[in-house]
Amino acid sequence: MPSNLNLGVSQNGGSSVNVNAGMELEDSDLSRVLDRPRHLNIERQRSCQQGEVSIGISPRRGDIFDYVFSPGRRSGFNTPRVENGFDTHPVVAEAWEALRRSLVYFRGQPVGTIAALDNSEENLNYDQVFVRDFVPSALAFLMNGEPEIVKNFILKTLRLQSWEKKIDRFQLGEGVMPASFKVLHDPVRNYETLIADFGESAIGRVAPVDSGFWWVILLRAYTKSTGDTSLAERPECQKGIRLILSLCLSEGFDTFPTLLCADGCCMIDRRMGVYGYPIEIQALFFMALRCAMILLKQDMEGKEFVERIVKRLHALSYHMRSYFWLDLKQLNDIYRYKTEEYSHTAVNKFNVIPDSLPDWVFDFMPTRGGYFVGNVSPARMDFRWFCLGNCIAILSSLATPEQSTAIMDLIESRWEELVGEMPLKVCYPAIDNHEWRITTGCDPKNTRWSYHNGGSWPVLLWLLTAACIKTGRPQIARRAIELAETRLLGDNWPEYYDGKSGHYIGKQARKFQTWSIAGYLVAKMMLEDPSHLGMVSIEEDKQMKPLIKRSNSWTF
Ligand code: GLC
Repeated sequence: MPSNLNLGVSQNGGSSVNVNAGMELEDSDLSRVLDRPRHLNIERQRSCQQGEVSIGISPRRGDIFDYVFSPGRRSGFNTPRVENGFDTHPVVAEAWEALRRSLVYFRGQPVGTIAALDNSEENLNYDQVFVRDFVPSALAFLMNGEPEIVKNFILKTLRLQSWEKKIDRFQLGEGVMPASFKVLHDPVRNYETLIADFGESAIGRVAPVDSGFWWVILLRAYTKSTGDTSLAERPECQKGIRLILSLCLSEGFDTFPTLLCADGCCMIDRRMGVYGYPIEIQALFFMALRCAMILLKQDMEGKEFVERIVKRLHALSYHMRSYFWLDLKQLNDIYRYKTEEYSHTAVNKFNVIPDSLPDWVFDFMPTRGGYFVGNVSPARMDFRWFCLGNCIAILSSLATPEQSTAIMDLIESRWEELVGEMPLKVCYPAIDNHEWRITTGCDPKNTRWSYHNGGSWPVLLWLLTAACIKTGRPQIARRAIELAETRLLGDNWPEYYDGKSGHYIGKQARKFQTWSIAGYLVAKMMLEDPSHLGMVSIEEDKQMKPLIKRSNSWTF
């Protein structure tokens, strides 16, 4: 039964949105559900253009929240929806409370969520809204039928993209999206402004290559979830997408279709040996390209980009599926590789020296299963397993269905190593001793089995859950969520856990880390209603099937 919802955002030149909430949840055919917008059909009545960043308006909380809603669908902005007793779980209710406390307002409108609400520690930059951190928050709000904050966030970050960005005297590309932003309040003038960080303030001056990709992915999630195509169709959004694409599709000296990056350019935002062609960025790149293809209008400019995207997707999927993929057969092949091969007939194209294979990988590789390795470049294969890249590979269908199944097989058979007591390892294994010294530059935050170096991050739960649902293995997600549930609330939602099995709250982990909270909620909601998966998943494009299959261990 469709119901009408009126989101009145009247003052401040805001918008008034009429929401038509259709209940389509009985559909059990997942593949059909994935291909159409969910629940909300938003009809725009007035545009939501806002004043310049420098115009001062005092923050007024709550004024967009007084809308009418249909009973049973959700219970208002301040509580989670009531459905199937879902919110009766005490951890879920607490998580929603904590998530709402993390909301950040700009001139009376919610525009994001703070990275961590931990007052016990020095703030550093955890008082900012990070683009990547906001993604699970956004998904939680979309799943709960609250799209306005997501729309505000998309539009605000888009405005920040157009800023002139400089590090010392060097100007960054026009399309770069910020890593994070914060609202500055001048109490004397009662005046609010936004300030953004594009890497020029970040520790180590790392560039957020992932931000632009997450932005496009989120825009598609918003569009898919609400059915409101008008946001993505706005000229400024189309331009934003094109600017992001210009950055990553530009021609250069590259011999590979993968994207060359500096260290620390993604979730792992410190020196961790993820420079070159890190899997996290390649998977997000692939996913963002696919989302952009869906969102771009077929006008003159749009068409040109679509053509470039198609070519790149083709090359990228071939490269990733062939050279980043590792399973027992492929590992054995590398182990027996000849080196110093020249010309087109070379099998060992990147001249990987078999002696560079680390000992642990032989034990780690199960008979059934496989994964995309961390990095591939000349004579350098980083064999570490990274969670985010592998999950995004499944969700974007960068992984073939067989590869997706193999990734899940590996997670199941290496449960102790990858999940242990707290889901989920950001990467496996940790690096130590001499390798730690040369790879991290002796980083005291990234000691073995801590933080980015083999630490366990609850935020990754939502990605695991989505990957589980997509591959038809929700029981794996259920097991992981139950594990997390035993500790997260009691431990005050840490940012990460330390130790080989994730037994300890992380050495310098923030408490009330928002993406730990939101990641848990998204995982719960997705498991409860698998049709939410459509927001973050794209089905395989049959035309992109690899021409050759280098290995077939999943048929063992
Ligand atoms: C840390 C994480 C980064 C995250 C930020 C804010 O720097 O490495 O991924 O975005 O904290 O939570």
